[in-house]
Amino acid sequence: MTEVTRAGTFQLGDLPVTRMGYGAMQLAGPHVFGPPKDKAAALAVLRAAVESGITHIDTSDFYGPHVTNQLIREALHPYPDALTIVTKVGARRGSDASWNLASSAAELESAVHDNLRNLGLDVLDVVNFRVMLSVGAPVEGDIEEPLTALAELQNKGLIRHIGLSNVTAKQIAQGRTITEIVSVQNMYNLAHRHDDALIDHLEKEGIAYVPYFPLGGFTPLQADALSDAAEQCGATPMQVALAWLLHRAPNILLIPGTSSVEHLQQNIQSVNLQLPEHLLSSLDNIGLR
Ligand SMILES: NC(=O)c1ccc[n+]([C@@H]2O[C@H](COP(=O)([O-])OP(=O)(O)OC[C@H]3O[C@@H](n4cnc5c(N)ncnc54)[C@H](OP(=O)(O)O)[C@@H]3O)[C@@H](O)[C@H]2O)c1
Repeated sequence: MTEVTRAGTFQLGDLPVTRMGYGAMQLAGPHVFGPPKDKAAALAVLRAAVESGITHIDTSDFYGPHVTNQLIREALHPYPDALTIVTKVGARRGSDASWNLASSAAELESAVHDNLRNLGLDVLDVVNFRVMLSVGAPVEGDIEEPLTALAELQNKGLIRHIGLSNVTAKQIAQGRTITEIVSVQNMYNLAHRHDDALIDHLEKEGIAYVPYFPLGGFTPLQADALSDAAEQCGATPMQVALAWLLHRAPNILLIPGTSSVEHLQQNIQSVNLQLPEHLLSSLDNIGLR
């Protein structure tokens, strides 16, 4: 058993993935725009992720744009059979690095073809429809038209499974009337617990919940209870934050992002961390205040 598989696996449709995965967004340049400062280092992180046994990489063609997908292809193609690459569509980057809505049927089709070309694939394993009604927290709004367009691309054989990102419970329910939804990717971590009820619901339905910003994203998680717990466990605060997520629910899949092999290895080691009950309770209080 590799260290990574100690956290177990989860089925994304018919694709088994390690619960400990890797998010590639940090590999692009500053503001997720342009090439990385050190391309060799970016390629090394991707290779180290797969060598460590990770079988779930999260990406998007709008990281860069195109940069992270091209790095993934250069580092890992031809891909190991066990590797599942999850990408997302629904946004377009402006020349000023802005994030813009791109969810017409034509834009989604062109995004799927961009992902196929840049990743060097004939079929995309999982495509998340990233709802861009807001860049921040999910807001209510009809997703029938874009999701139907994506489901048509799935019917044509270009996409194996569909997920949703930045969505409300109502939008997930609507999505499930259109096609099978295998995963939901929303912002969630120790300090941002707004999806607690949703996670429990998705667990019962056998749907993966993939928190983005598991370490706080651009504002790393910081709390006294987190530092105290890390000290007591002889671990880093980031390892405790990941171990807490693994413990939170079995349908939670991790995609921590990093541009460093050292941080990648530290993140992977969080699968070995068993948090005792008293620490779990004090960590729970961080987000429930
Ligand atoms: N669906 C969406 O809308 C959406 C939005 C954002 C992100 N995502 C996905 O979610 C993934 C995870 O999110 P994220 O990468 O933005 O945020 P994150 O995983 O919460 O945090 C990444 C940040 O933490 C640092 N870091 C990582 N491991 C560390 C460690 N062991 N010790 C100290 N610092 C560490 C990274 O810096 P270093 O590079 O220096 O390690 C980076 O600054 C992304 O890669 C992307 O695939 C999806």
